[in-house]
Amino acid sequence: MNVSGKKALVFGGTSGIGFAAAKQLAALGASVVAISRDPSRAGEVPKGVALAACDVLDRDALTKLFKAHAPFDILVSAATGGTRARGTFLEMDMESYKASFAKLWGYANVLQLGTPHVTPNGTIVLVSGSPARRSKPGQVAIASVGGAVEALVRAVAPEITPRRLNVVSPGTIDTPMSSLTGAEREEAYRKQTAKNLIPRAGTADEVAQAILFVIQNDFVTGTTVDVDGGWLLS
Ligand SMILES: NC(=O)c1ccc[n+]([C@@H]2O[C@H](COP(=O)([O-])OP(=O)(O)OC[C@H]3O[C@@H](n4cnc5c(N)ncnc54)[C@H](OP(=O)(O)O)[C@@H]3O)[C@@H](O)[C@H]2O)c1
Repeated sequence: MNVSGKKALVFGGTSGIGFAAAKQLAALGASVVAISRDPSRAGEVPKGVALAACDVLDRDALTKLFKAHAPFDILVSAATGGTRARGTFLEMDMESYKASFAKLWGYANVLQLGTPHVTPNGTIVLVSGSPARRSKPGQVAIASVGGAVEALVRAVAPEITPRRLNVVSPGTIDTPMSSLTGAEREEAYRKQTAKNLIPRAGTADEVAQAILFVIQNDFVTGTTVDVDGGWLLS
């Protein structure tokens, strides 16, 4: 797919990985709508990116948004959806664990309500995470959610062909998702990535490059692309 002149909707497109994807798409000539609950957090946006407010858990609001922008060629969701439970399984609070699945339900809403408006040659991308296939202790919640996202994509891709559907799976990425600052932030990323083949946090742009790859390559569907600094072999 040549993205120039195409229309793209990017959920979670106001921060981190989604914002980087929105900017890369716009730089290649796509017309992008970057969406989140509070899009003002994106600050200044480049030419080609418009902002819109919508919560991926609000199906009525999503339905209206999709109708207003249909048809579109590219649909991306990197929206985290809500909070994430941390901690080992036996100690995990069940309500927090269940709440972590807001990410899955947000993706499912975007996929179910958005796909009918994606052009037949269009393409859809969701974002999972390395714990889906190699979980470290304390990552049970994000591992389960990520695994469900990847299974959802493999199950839905054959049902919506010729539209293409893929997942990009990031490892540890330096984005506003982490609220730590300064030396504390650097130390946290150093610790989290010390055993990776590439021992550093990745950038949002490195993940966005993979999102652009699965958008542009017309022979890729139903699969997961890892951008993880070698996490899976760590
Ligand atoms: N950063 C990492 O290390 C890492 C690793 C593995 C996987 N991931 C995954 O990559 C994706 C992007 O993460 P990121 O690091 O780029 O996070 P981020 O910088 O915190 O961005 C998350 C985006 O999602 C939006 N969002 C959250 N809940 C939403 C909702 N209910 N409705 C609409 N928009 C919502 C946020 O905006 P509002 O708050 O304004 O709604 C924001 O634009 C996530 O799915 C995350 O789980 C990240």
